[in-house]
Amino acid sequence: MRMRIGVLGTGGMADALGTRWARAGHEVFVGGRDTTRAAALAERLGGHAGDLRAAAEFGEDAVLVALPWRAAVDVVGGLKDGLRSRTLIDCTNPVGPGFVLETAGGPSASARLASAAPGAHVVKAFNLCHEDVWRLAPPVFDGRPLAVPLCGDDEKALSAVRHLVRDLGCEPLNAGPLARAGLVEATAALLIGLWVGEGADAQAIAPPWAAAGRR
Ligand SMILES: NC(=O)c1ccc[n+]([C@@H]2O[C@H](COP(=O)([O-])OP(=O)(O)OC[C@H]3O[C@@H](n4cnc5c(N)ncnc54)[C@H](OP(=O)(O)O)[C@@H]3O)[C@@H](O)[C@H]2O)c1
Repeated sequence: MRMRIGVLGTGGMADALGTRWARAGHEVFVGGRDTTRAAALAERLGGHAGDLRAAAEFGEDAVLVALPWRAAVDVVGGLKDGLRSRTLIDCTNPVGPGFVLETAGGPSASARLASAAPGAHVVKAFNLCHEDVWRLAPPVFDGRPLAVPLCGDDEKALSAVRHLVRDLGCEPLNAGPLARAGLVEATAALLIGLWVGEGADAQAIAPPWAAAGRR
């Protein structure tokens, strides 16, 4: 199925995911506050370009929010009428200097997006890996496709995002309702702290599935 995807943002994540989805055959509209940057990215990936509002309008099947998390809440709040019943893919990481979780003690970034745009269906996804991982075609490591945890409350929105995960050559993983998105955001803070702060192989913190002590 050919989807109409709006992308809010013109940076690394917009480029990585927008390019992969355009190559998978979807119609991608890049929206930026700087429409010249949006046009340059759209030309590279073979899509359409305009401002943020136009991208939200275009994204009938999904809208990727590829903005810094605080800007994302402001932008999504400003566009809220145009985002009603849209699938909003939230890849933001509220992770600040020192790898701190900037939302600690309060709602997750995803929950804040959902509050800013009532009626939109927010799905947390794609925040755990660097943009260069999403550029891999496909992200398969040791023969195993990368698993992408999804948190969301709306089955239709989750189904659309599962489709987009598979288009990257990855496997969607049910990580529960949007109320659990804060756990995925905290996981990003932990992983980035280990990878970047400690220079550690963060993948080694989890045992293989066969030894995970499941019942
Ligand atoms: N890069 C990664 O590897 C990675 C991985 C996982 C998750 N993430 C998350 O994904 C999100 C996007 O990251 P990124 O690396 O793509 O960021 P980026 O390259 O810095 O791009 C950010 C985009 O947001 C726009 N922007 C910034 N402030 C804005 C505002 N107040 N209003 C409207 N637009 C604004 C920028 O526009 P201008 O060009 O006009 O400044 C740019 O288009 C972030 O939340 C990040 O935490 C990133």
